Amino acid sequence: MERITVVGAGNVGATVANVIAHKDLAKEVVLVDIKEGVAEGKALDIWQTSAINNFDTRVVGVTNNYLRTKGSGIVVITSGLPRKPGMSRDDLIRTNAKIVVEVTEKVIKYSPEAIIIIVSNPLDVMTYVAWRTANKSSKRVFGMAGILDTGRYRAFLATALDVSPKDIQALLLGGHGDSMVPLRRYTSVKGIPITELLGKDEIDQIVERTRKGGGELVNLMGTSAWYAPGAAAAQMVESIVDDQKRIFPVCARLNGEYGINDLYLGVPVKLGKSGIEEIIELNLNEKESKLLQDSANQVRAATNIVEGMNLFGD
Ligand code: NAI
Ligand code: 2OP
Repeated sequence: MERITVVGAGNVGATVANVIAHKDLAKEVVLVDIKEGVAEGKALDIWQTSAINNFDTRVVGVTNNYLRTKGSGIVVITSGLPRKPGMSRDDLIRTNAKIVVEVTEKVIKYSPEAIIIIVSNPLDVMTYVAWRTANKSSKRVFGMAGILDTGRYRAFLATALDVSPKDIQALLLGGHGDSMVPLRRYTSVKGIPITELLGKDEIDQIVERTRKGGGELVNLMGTSAWYAPGAAAAQMVESIVDDQKRIFPVCARLNGEYGINDLYLGVPVKLGKSGIEEIIELNLNEKESKLLQDSANQVRAATNIVEGMNLFGD
C-alpha cells in the first residue's frame, strides 16, 4: 500500500505506526497530531530504527497537516483522551466525539476512499461517530477492540495453563467495556475445548479479569494501555493490506445480524482488502444471547448520547 495514516501520535498512535513500519505494510506511514512537534518527533524516532530493524516504510510526522495524508488507503484514528483512574470509557464520550468528528472530516476530505479503523474510546460509540461523519459503507468503517480483548484473554489463559499463547484460539462478542462477552464455548487450546483443561471457577476468574483488563492497566499506570492496543490495530491493517481474510472480533455495524439492528458492536468478521468482507453469525445459546443483548443495550444507551449532541448536521 502507498500510504497509511495514523491520527493521534500519543501512546497508541505511535505504537500503531511503529508496528506498521516494522512489518513493512506500506511505503509510507503518516502520523498526525495537534500538538506541535510530537508527531514529527515520534515519526523521526521510529524512522531511525529502520536501519537497525531492517524496514523500508518511511515514517513521517505532521502537525494538523492533512494534505500530507492525501490518498491514504487506510486511516487509523487514535486521537482523543485516554482513561484515567476512576474513569469509565463512557466518561470520554463528549470530548472524544467532537475530536473524532473533526478528524474524520479532515481525513475524508483528502482520502475519500480510505478504510477507517477507529481506536478512540468509548470504542463502539466512536466508531459509530466516525461512520456517521464519513458517510460511507460500514464495511469500510470499523473499530478495534476484540483483538485486544481476546489478546488479553489468551494471555491470561496461556499463563494459567503454562502453554504458548499462539496455541490458544478464542472469540469474544459485544461492546468494548465491562459487558464484553468472552465465549468459553469457542475457546480452545490447539483444538482442545478450554472446559476440558480448566475448572469453571478458574475460567470464570479469567473471563472477569479479561472484562476488566483495560481498567487493571489504567490502575497500574495512571493511563490506558498501548502496546497491545497498538499491535492489535496493526494486525487489522495487515489483514487488509495483505488481503489475508483473517477472522477477528471487530466492532462492526450490525443490520439484523444476531437480531440486532443499527448498532456498532463487536462480532467476528472476515477482514480483507475491501474491509469487512463478511460478518460471521455464531449459533449462540440462551445465556450467550442474553449477555450479548445486555452488552448491546449498554452500547445503545451510550450511542444515544452522541445522537443528542447535534454532531452530524441533520
Ligand atoms: P494519548 O493521550 O497518549 O494520545 C492521544 C493523542 O491524541 C494526543 O497526542 C493528542 O494530542 C491527540 N489528539 C487530541 N486531539 C486531536 C485532534 N483533534 N487531532 C489530532 N490529534 C489529536 O492517548 P492514547 O493512550 O494514545 O489513547 C488514545 C485513545 O485510544 C483514547 O481514547 C483511549 O481511550 C483509546 N484506546 C482504545 C483502545 C481500544 O481497545 N479501542 C485501547 C487503548 C486506548
Ligand atoms: C483498554 O482496554 C482503555 O480501552 C482501553 O486498554
